[in-house]
Amino acid sequence: MPKTKISIAVLVSGSGTNLQALIDAQNNGILKSGKVSLVISNNADAYAVTRAENANIKTAIISHKEFGDAGMEAKIIDQLNENKIDLIILAGFMRILSADFTRKYDHRIINVHPSLIPSFCGEGYYGLRVHEEALKKGVKVTGATVHFVNEIPDGGEIILQKAVTVPENSTPKSLQKRVMKLAEWKILPKACEIISNKILKGEI
Ligand code: GRF
Repeated sequence: MPKTKISIAVLVSGSGTNLQALIDAQNNGILKSGKVSLVISNNADAYAVTRAENANIKTAIISHKEFGDAGMEAKIIDQLNENKIDLIILAGFMRILSADFTRKYDHRIINVHPSLIPSFCGEGYYGLRVHEEALKKGVKVTGATVHFVNEIPDGGEIILQKAVTVPENSTPKSLQKRVMKLAEWKILPKACEIISNKILKGEI
């Protein structure tokens, strides 16, 4: 029987609101060509792990602190193989993956970044810093980008973007929340479906 869904692993480190958006998308039919079958966290205390457990998704904790970055990657690869994973989603995963890793999974890793790439992206641009810099620059429009991951941080091919206006008196925190709600949580599940469907059909 041909596969009806590909298997997805989500890599997380923190609160996991983007993971939740993917879980919700599975439940409401937006994500139908793929199934989140594994959540890997480098941080045992991440709330994302609880979200995965609540959704009955298998979890693995693989800490860079315990194994070092290379050891962590080797263990992640073992998990991906064991669970026959077809697509990897970085949803707030706070480690930069090595070029060896990203080359091994060419066009099989996607990431969500909280700005309109190529603005406010690259090494050092993560978390609140992205929004702090956007506010410092005084941009009137920001947003989020979902892109393939390659060896250049935030440098892979863009899959989807969504713009969000910047209200006056925004703070980095208020802007972060706005970008998540209006952009990230919408385009990540959509992009995940687009790419899952292409993999399922053998188009990529
Ligand atoms: C998001 O802003 C995402 O764009 C970035 O890290 C944050 C993760 O948040 N890569 P969460 O863990 O999904 O709530």
